[in-house]
Amino acid sequence: MTEESRFPRRIQAYLLPLLLVFIFNLQIYAQDEEAVVVDETETVVADASEDAGIDKAIWDEGKKLFRANCASCHHPINNMTGPALKGALNRWEGQDDYQGITGKEWMYRWIRNWNEPVNDGMPYAIAMKDYDPSVMNLFIALTDEEIDNIVYYTDNSDWKPATAGGPAISEVETKTDSGIFKTLLLLLIGVLIMIALILGRVSTVLNRLVIEKEGGIAPQRVPIYKSKALITALVLAAFIFVAFELADGAISLGRQQGYQPAQPIAFSHKLHAGKYNIDCQYCHHSASQSKHSNIPSVDVCMNCHKAVQQGPTGNKEEIEKIYAAADYDVFSQEYGPDPNPIEWVRIHNLPDHVYFNHQQHVVAGNLECQTCHGPIEEMEEVYQYAPLSMGWCINCHRETQVQFASNDYYELYKKLHDKGKFDEITVETIGGTECQKCHY
Ligand code: HEC
Ligand code: HEC
Ligand code: HEC
Ligand code: HEC
Ligand code: HEC
Ligand code: HEC
Repeated sequence: MTEESRFPRRIQAYLLPLLLVFIFNLQIYAQDEEAVVVDETETVVADASEDAGIDKAIWDEGKKLFRANCASCHHPINNMTGPALKGALNRWEGQDDYQGITGKEWMYRWIRNWNEPVNDGMPYAIAMKDYDPSVMNLFIALTDEEIDNIVYYTDNSDWKPATAGGPAISEVETKTDSGIFKTLLLLLIGVLIMIALILGRVSTVLNRLVIEKEGGIAPQRVPIYKSKALITALVLAAFIFVAFELADGAISLGRQQGYQPAQPIAFSHKLHAGKYNIDCQYCHHSASQSKHSNIPSVDVCMNCHKAVQQGPTGNKEEIEKIYAAADYDVFSQEYGPDPNPIEWVRIHNLPDHVYFNHQQHVVAGNLECQTCHGPIEEMEEVYQYAPLSMGWCINCHRETQVQFASNDYYELYKKLHDKGKFDEITVETIGGTECQKCHY
């Protein structure tokens, strides 16, 4: 009967390693919940600039100036309020000298004060004036060198300093998952292994009893740490654990539903888009014009905050941060020479292998921003509302009917639909679930 009294201690011996695996596991999940903000500037490869023959210092300077002064109306390669600026210098240089002044010099004059070349009758400037009903701001204080830097940047805007994205936006590595599911799964695996071990043990004990009863000599007992069953079970558990972690980690890498980082200025969508009902596209105007939706530049804030100098509670601190970024002096009402873009922390971020286009969804698809971004106008601080997973995109493509009313690209399908060939034309019907539509 000695075997029976020893049995409980054995179970403890099995439990211990399993428990350790467990605690280790829980700790990993706990860490997952923290978002780690990685400053991109650290990962910029030092010699990348030499590879492309780009002078990073000038490029950075130009980008900074461009973002602070021009980005509210211009995009380097897309036409916005103003024309795409890439190649602008070439266009001006391509003009004949006028009044003995070169095209390039006329461009400097245009940028500082476009009225001047227009009033002087410079033909290209006069033609350019009609590009858009809105007029360009004056930038009297910009030096030739600063304009050169801006042009350098816009002509080379497709160059990237080794890592993706602009330096004003920090990338974020984070992973928040339903750890509970995984923990339960591991618990199950643990219990199964325990049962297997206990059954194995019981059968050895019974075997020995039978042998002893028949007068034979039972084989020597193997010590627990040499037990083949236990070692196999542990190796198996470790293998399953590692494989699971790897696969899951790879799939959800970078996913961050609910992500809500603190921003450098306490900008409230609830106040601006909610209470004051400012149209989303007043600030995010490129959402209906291009792939990306822009984050407004300091200039856009200044349109109102030159006048609105304090918040609803009389608080001035946050708005002063805008002035600091724009290098604006409230008292003299003058801009200084050193504006800096506000370093908003990027929230939504699809992996590089996915192609997503705002214009397609907002204009052709006629979708509200809120369908994908949630009740932004109620958010004091923006958080990521949708999972941004592949399943999320595909499900909506399966369920959503193409809006014939808002675009006439799909005449053919409309006719087929009217003829009764299709009951309903969803985004899937027009190919919205084909891999290459979303993957480069
Ligand atoms: C408030 C909007 C606005 C801002 C800010 C702005 N621009 Fe413009 N820009 C325009 C518009 C609009 C035009 C087209 C002319 C027109 O319709 O009056 C234009 C035209 C130009 C052109 C001529 C383009 C060509 O193809 O030849 C240049 C060059 C230019 N802008 C440079 C700049 C630079 C550099 C900055 C920043 C320092 C800047 N702009 C800021 C609105 C703006
Ligand atoms: C007055 C300007 C302004 C208006 C109006 C505005 N936004 Fe924004 N939006 C911003 C700024 C600035 C940020 C960056 C700071 C932040 O995340 O709060 C931002 C961030 C966002 C983001 C997160 C971007 C990211 O980093 O992934 C989304 C999504 C967004 N806005 C959607 C909307 C929608 C939808 C509306 C209309 C209901 C709207 N915004 C109205 C200025 C504005
Ligand atoms: C269309 C006009 C408009 C634009 C554009 C605008 N704001 Fe405002 N902002 C306001 C108004 C109005 C208030 C509220 C004033 C009040 O209620 O007393 C305000 C208030 C604020 C406050 C104070 C909030 C508080 O509680 O103290 C901050 C900070 C702010 N805005 C930041 C920004 C930033 C950053 C931008 C640019 C991305 C921006 N705003 C663009 C109109 C604007
Ligand atoms: C069909 C879903 C969908 C709709 C509709 C939509 N967005 Fe987005 N939005 C996204 C996705 C997905 C991203 C992430 C894009 C990326 O990482 O490239 C995003 C990113 C953004 C960003 C961050 C900058 C960027 O482009 O990466 C802003 C700002 C934004 N959206 C604003 C808007 C506004 C304003 C509207 C409405 C005019 C809108 N979105 C409509 C899905 C949508
Ligand atoms: C809320 C619904 C919705 C979500 C979520 C959504 N889409 Fe779409 N998507 C649409 C609609 C509607 C269209 C059709 C637009 C049109 O009529 O051209 C579309 C069209 C597209 C197209 C063009 C398909 C074609 O055949 O031309 C691509 C590519 C695309 N979406 C990518 C994405 C990606 C990537 C995501 C996820 C990050 C996503 N979409 C999420 C509704 C959605
Ligand atoms: C409507 C857009 C869309 C279509 C169509 C689509 N994908 Fe994706 N796919 C995505 C998005 C968005 C992600 C990123 C998901 C994430 O970050 O978790 C993704 C991620 C992936 C990944 C990386 C693993 C993962 O889940 O993150 C693979 C592999 C993949 N897709 C393969 C495919 C294949 C194969 C097809 C065709 C059968 C396809 N995709 C069709 C949008 C799409």
